[in-house]
Amino acid sequence: MPVDLTNERPLAWDSATLDADTKKMLDNLQPNILRAHVREYLSVLFVRFNDVAEGRRYLRKIADTKMKSALRHLQEVRDFANARRRGTPYVGIGISKAGYRDLGHSVDDMRKFGDLVFRDGMKRRIGEVSDPPVEEWDRCYQREIHAVILIGDSEREPVEALRKEFLRDLPGSARVLGEETGQGMRNPAGDGIEHFGYVDGRSQPLFVKDEVDKEPKKHWNPAFPLSNVLVADPLAPDPDRHFGSYFVFRKLEQNVRAFKEIEQNLADSLGLADGDRDRAGALLVGRFKDGTPVTLKAKAGGGTVVNDFTFEADEGSKCPFSGHIRKTNPRSFGRDVLMARRGQTYGRRSDDPWDDSPPEARPSGEVGLLFMAFNSSLISQFEFTQQSWANAPDFEAPSTGHDPVIGQGDREIKVVFPKVWGKPGMSPPHRQVAQTVTMKGGEYFFMPSLAYLRAL
Ligand code: HEM
Repeated sequence: MPVDLTNERPLAWDSATLDADTKKMLDNLQPNILRAHVREYLSVLFVRFNDVAEGRRYLRKIADTKMKSALRHLQEVRDFANARRRGTPYVGIGISKAGYRDLGHSVDDMRKFGDLVFRDGMKRRIGEVSDPPVEEWDRCYQREIHAVILIGDSEREPVEALRKEFLRDLPGSARVLGEETGQGMRNPAGDGIEHFGYVDGRSQPLFVKDEVDKEPKKHWNPAFPLSNVLVADPLAPDPDRHFGSYFVFRKLEQNVRAFKEIEQNLADSLGLADGDRDRAGALLVGRFKDGTPVTLKAKAGGGTVVNDFTFEADEGSKCPFSGHIRKTNPRSFGRDVLMARRGQTYGRRSDDPWDDSPPEARPSGEVGLLFMAFNSSLISQFEFTQQSWANAPDFEAPSTGHDPVIGQGDREIKVVFPKVWGKPGMSPPHRQVAQTVTMKGGEYFFMPSLAYLRAL
């Protein structure tokens, strides 16, 4: 294969020596895969086609007129950094297995997708990841989605304009089954946060040299080979140079009120007082609200959000094995499992997620995370993280418990928490915290190359 996906060296995309094959790959790759695209405002449309020719024409037109390449995106990021020149909005297209069928692809074509989980679709996998029954999902996701269209920008207007245009151009045979609206939230330091109030999106596998160069790497190497997220696009004109990525979308509702009550109850039961009370939440997430890793510090604070750490010197007396970031990235093994997360928060709320309001002032539903991630293998990355790590109470050590943030399934066994940070004394066995994140539906997609979309 001309493009070597296994190369460990981060991609020097603007180097004069960039080889022609890699350049062609970047010219035909969708943005937001190798490097996160700004999507402070995000619109997500779920579409069903019902007519081969019309569905193909619709996607082709979007690809021809509104989609930029990964290369163009990287250039825009550079131009913004150098000259504050504003970039163009992000438009991404993912196609489900049902979508490929509806666009006229044969069973033989579908067999060219190496990922069996993609070929199954999310509904057939609920047993494998302990998801709620499909009848409990939001209606849109119960139906057969053919494509997802993502529109993202730093401002609302361009997103709204493109959304309107795509809805207007939809052929008569097609339907929008549903849509989601994402909007970023930030803390006073300017870092993106999720609805429980914690800094999110900090730890990522990085592929591009400019991003890798900025990171300290004494303990944790954030650089990953392209094979972590890219696969050959099997239906593209030139699969050796045209690449895509498997995309998982999950709507995850957050009961913020319940989570805030849990934080307080845990602080009470561990006897954490005053400035130490915030540690209760950090034991669940693995980071304090401001992003400080609890394996490094007993209290929040300390400038930029650190990602150069491992859990090697921590037997669970600082960050429990169940802590969300420890479950989902143990750091001393399983590097291949890490996905490129590209989620965004959804839902409006009147309270400030960052302040110290009491739990009663918090929303108990209708807000959450549109979880999105790029994978080269859904089964060994997303599903493995969710089932073999987050949902597994014996992962890393016996009776460590489910991931308190995203774990799904029966939480029978009791767990212990460190009472004093960094000291061996553990709490008496404690009931696991209740599940506060509920999956409301989703689908697996493939984000094909631009070359595929333009050839439709
Ligand atoms: C509503 C649901 C979720 C919430 C509130 C949440 C919250 C967070 C937070 C606050 C962080 C720390 C920020 C960072 O290190 O970047 C984080 C990291 C992470 N989350 Fe989640 N998350 C959710 C869902 C998921 C799901 C479904 C998965 C995968 C199955 C996942 C996988 C990860 C991974 C891999 C990391 C990075 C860990 C690391 O590299 O240190 N998260 N999440």
